[in-house]
Amino acid sequence: MTNHPILTTEDLTYIYQKGSKNEVPAIQDVSIDIMQGELVGIIGHTGSGKSTLIEHFNALKKGTSGRVLLDGADIWADRSKIRSVRFHVGVCFQYPEYQLFEETVAKDIAFGPKNMGLQQDEIDRRVSDALSFVGLSDAYKEKSPFDLSGGEKRRVAIAGIMAMEPQVLVLDEPCAGLDPRGRETVLRMIADYRAKTGCTVLLVSHSMEDVAAIADRILVMNQSRVAFFDTVERVFSHAEELQNMGLDIPQMTHLLLLLREKGIDVPVNLYTVSQVHAMLQSRLKGGNVNAE
Ligand SMILES: Nc1ncnc2c1ncn2[C@@H]1O[C@H](COP(=O)(O)OP(=O)(O)OP(=O)(O)O)[C@@H](O)[C@H]1O
Ligand SMILES: [Mg+2]
Repeated sequence: MTNHPILTTEDLTYIYQKGSKNEVPAIQDVSIDIMQGELVGIIGHTGSGKSTLIEHFNALKKGTSGRVLLDGADIWADRSKIRSVRFHVGVCFQYPEYQLFEETVAKDIAFGPKNMGLQQDEIDRRVSDALSFVGLSDAYKEKSPFDLSGGEKRRVAIAGIMAMEPQVLVLDEPCAGLDPRGRETVLRMIADYRAKTGCTVLLVSHSMEDVAAIADRILVMNQSRVAFFDTVERVFSHAEELQNMGLDIPQMTHLLLLLREKGIDVPVNLYTVSQVHAMLQSRLKGGNVNAE
C-alpha cells in the first residue's frame, strides 16, 4: 500500500428522485480517500447507501453534488473519458453470475478485455491469469458456465472483471448466498488477488467477520453518511455505536473485550475462533494468560 490516494470522493451526495416529493438522499457528504493498493471493507445496514456509493466509482451514477477523483482527476471532467474510467474501476455487482451468457467460460471472461479492443493473445493471457486468480484450472475454459456450481459461476463472473485488469476492483457482496466453504474460498481469493497484483480492492459486505479477516480499513456507512472510516481494530472499538447502527462486531471481538474488562491483557485484533484459540493456548502454556 502507498499513501497516494487512487480514489477520492469530495462531499459526494446522491438523491434519488431529486426534485420530487419522494426524494431519497441515498448518500450524503461522503468525503473519503482510498489509498493505492489498499483493501477496504464497506459495511452498513441495509439501505445505508453502500451500493449507491460504489456505483459512483465507475461513473454509473453521477453525484447530485460533489466529485469523484480517480488518481487525482475528476472522472466527469471529460465525458469522452468515461469509458476508460469503466476500464480502470471494475465493479462486480451483486449476484454477477446472472450476467453470464456466453457458451464457454473462456468467452465469458474474455468479454471485457475484448470490449477494450485488446489483441487476441493479450486476451488469452488475461483469461488464463483471471482463471488462476479465482482458483479454477484451464480445464474450465471450454465448459459451459451453465454447467458449473453456484460458487464456480460466481468465481467466473468475478474473473471476468479481473480480466480487465482494473486499477480498482470493487465487489458488491461477493459472498452473498454462498455456503461457508464458498465464502471462505471467495474471501481468500480476493485477498490473494490483492497480494499478487497490488491492486486496490473495495469489498462491500454485510459480514463484519468477513471484512475483518481481510480488510486494511473499514468504511462504515450509516443512514447515507460515513460513520467511521478507520482500521479494523479502531472501528471495532466502537462496539456500542456499531450495535446502535444495527451492526455487530465479531463474536470473538466481544469475547476479547470481555476478557479485557476482567483485567486480562489480551489483544483485540483477532477475529476467528482459531486465532483466539491459538493465542489463549500459547499463553496458558506459558502459565500466564497475561504474558505477551
Ligand atoms: N432506484 C431507487 N430509487 C429510489 N430509492 C432508491 C433506489 N435504490 C436505492 N434507493 C434507496 O437509497 C438508499 C440507499 O440504498 P442502497 O441500495 O445504496 O443501500 P445498500 O447499503 O446497498 O443496501 P443493501 O445492504 O440492502 O444492499 C435506500 O434508502 C434505498 O431505499
Ligand atoms: Mg446494496
